Amino acid sequence: MRLIKIILPALLMLNSGLPAAQTLSVIPVPAEVKIKKGVFKLGPETVVRSDERNQFNRTYLLSKLRVAGVTDKRTGNSGVIELITDNTIPQEGYSLISDSLRVTIKASSKAGFFYGIQTLLQMLPPTVYSGVANGFEKWEVPAVEINDYPRYGYRGMMLDVSRTFFDKATIINYMDWLSYHKINKFHWHLTDDNGWRIEIKKYPLLTARGAWRGPGEALAPTFGSGNKRYGGFFSQKDVKEIVKYAAERNIEIIPEIDLPGHSKAVTATYPEVLCESKKDAGESVQGEVSNVWCVSNEKNYKMLENIIKELASLFPGKYIHIGGDEVNMSSWEHCESCSEFMKSHDMKRPSELQNYFVRRLEKIVEKYGKTMAGWDEILEGGDLHKSTAVYAWRSVNKGVESITKGQPTIFMPGPYCYLDMKQSPLERGHNWAGIVTLEKTYSLDPEQNLTGDNKNLILGVQGGLWTELLAWPPRFIEYQTFPRMAAIAEIGWSKRANMSWESFHERITKYHFDRMNQMGIAFRVEPPVATYENGVVYATASYPWAVIRYSDNESNPDSHSPVYCGPISTADPLKYRFAVFYNDFTRSIPVKVQNVDYVYQTPATVVTSNIVANEKSSVNNVSDYKYDTYFRSATKAKAGDYVLYTFQEPVESKRITVESGIPVIDFYWVTDGYVEYSVNGTDFIKVGELNRGKITFTPAEKIKAVKIVITAPNDANTIVFQDLKIE
Ligand code: ACM
Ligand code: ZN
Repeated sequence: MRLIKIILPALLMLNSGLPAAQTLSVIPVPAEVKIKKGVFKLGPETVVRSDERNQFNRTYLLSKLRVAGVTDKRTGNSGVIELITDNTIPQEGYSLISDSLRVTIKASSKAGFFYGIQTLLQMLPPTVYSGVANGFEKWEVPAVEINDYPRYGYRGMMLDVSRTFFDKATIINYMDWLSYHKINKFHWHLTDDNGWRIEIKKYPLLTARGAWRGPGEALAPTFGSGNKRYGGFFSQKDVKEIVKYAAERNIEIIPEIDLPGHSKAVTATYPEVLCESKKDAGESVQGEVSNVWCVSNEKNYKMLENIIKELASLFPGKYIHIGGDEVNMSSWEHCESCSEFMKSHDMKRPSELQNYFVRRLEKIVEKYGKTMAGWDEILEGGDLHKSTAVYAWRSVNKGVESITKGQPTIFMPGPYCYLDMKQSPLERGHNWAGIVTLEKTYSLDPEQNLTGDNKNLILGVQGGLWTELLAWPPRFIEYQTFPRMAAIAEIGWSKRANMSWESFHERITKYHFDRMNQMGIAFRVEPPVATYENGVVYATASYPWAVIRYSDNESNPDSHSPVYCGPISTADPLKYRFAVFYNDFTRSIPVKVQNVDYVYQTPATVVTSNIVANEKSSVNNVSDYKYDTYFRSATKAKAGDYVLYTFQEPVESKRITVESGIPVIDFYWVTDGYVEYSVNGTDFIKVGELNRGKITFTPAEKIKAVKIVITAPNDANTIVFQDLKIE
């Protein structure tokens, strides 16, 4: 973690060594900024003018300026904000010139005006976003001259609404939040194994059945949905409303239906799309079976055409994304018809069959006036139409490969852009693409491994939010998206020469936190780092104006906890918890001192279970008291399954924590089950139900055994148990 070395009061910043573009604190940082003397004052007399074709932007701006007292009575003459068309300004670009008399925004497109307005809003007090004044604002725009335009035409965010369903209101809010950052593409991952989320009139079962998981539903419960019916979908009416709302804010929606794999929600409702295979064709990367379309069945292309036809009529944008990722191609190798097809078409590898499928879809998509897009796996097995866009997700080099093959490419490499990854080691989140910190995201330059002549194939960059872990806690979608998405916005919009991590981090923590707060976003605050040395606990935050609060009794600090003002002498550092507080509600996760390990008891223990372990994670992993190894099942767990921890000698403990799921990722835990303990090894006393796979208890006397009992068919296809934490 890095400390910013100097604190500069806001005014002094104008004289700092930073380019003017950065001192303005706008995110993404504009191309050219000159800061002049004076201010433009907003008030009831302010007039907003535009020509007729700019009515949306004018009304939008007025609605935001109401909090500044702007009434649009058009009677005053004390100041004018004017939107003026200037066809010499590049697409999406704008100029913004302000002095004491007027603010002039010039642009050649609706998008350009919209972005000029966004820059103007960021120059105003942050309450411009909530519309709720605090009474202390100065409603003034600094006198400036800004010329601004984007580095890339594609600045996107992908959201998976299949694993976790988000309703229309959430998506609408999300559109606002993206647009405030000059993000102009929303890649809507609408279908996957765990739910089909868009109404298709011709195939009603896709949503009537395929949008739901739970006991007795088409889809098995997963990701913590447990014993409850879980799901939802967007009607075509909802989609139209969202598309319109997004378009007004210059956001094109790219719908994705993930094909030919990731299709359990289809195969569970229209099983006739599967290969006719008697044998087990194995699992997909995510452990799904039978989730791949048969690619040699001609009827499937008719169904796909019908689906794409409806999609094309709903989404006015250029692209339709057909997925193409992580296909379990052994389904085709086990299919007589697909194998025959390969032979008769002289195909040697199943990836050639995938390419055949992709090329068929290109034609269908193009027939309905759209351009196809897909994940970087579509580069395999053969050529693509030269207009087909490739989303490079596996690495930066996949993007380079795509560009080298001549395809228009969007860079969203997991190690930088996957916002479902953890932001620090102890936070919830996946880690298969590494820890994706704000600084890591900001460090992506799509051009880093490319030479001059093919850079024009880079369409832009995109953040991606997969949602296996997003159903809990509430508003985790916001925590994972912000502020990392602001980094995506700046990578996609700003000139490299204007970018610096130090400046970005300062703009985020000193100014943009206030804006996001007023936007209504539950954003992430970076936790402090606490260490213990020579009898003293130290805590540091990643920025010097952070407020750190602490507790000394193992509880999580809250807004009444004391503020950390300096090193604390103590013999008991493990009792301390620290958190950074942006305000009373928005704060970091609590942390302990990082360089002193909790020491748990490690009594000799034998663990037994009726559950069959998968080949890599034996039951013995949970008696070794190594807390990062675990016992994982080969199959789904069912009611009556158990895991029994028996101690060689009775154990005395002030507190025992029973946890399930993959440690620190919060995945594959026991959704329905309880814990009991035994003093004599035969009679058991119930402790209580597991809550999100976890329970902590204090046994009244020495105990001989602890048992986890499963009470309903467990969520997900696998289940994971951990070592006991015995204090
Ligand atoms: C992906 O992450 N499977 C595109
Ligand atoms: Zn087949």
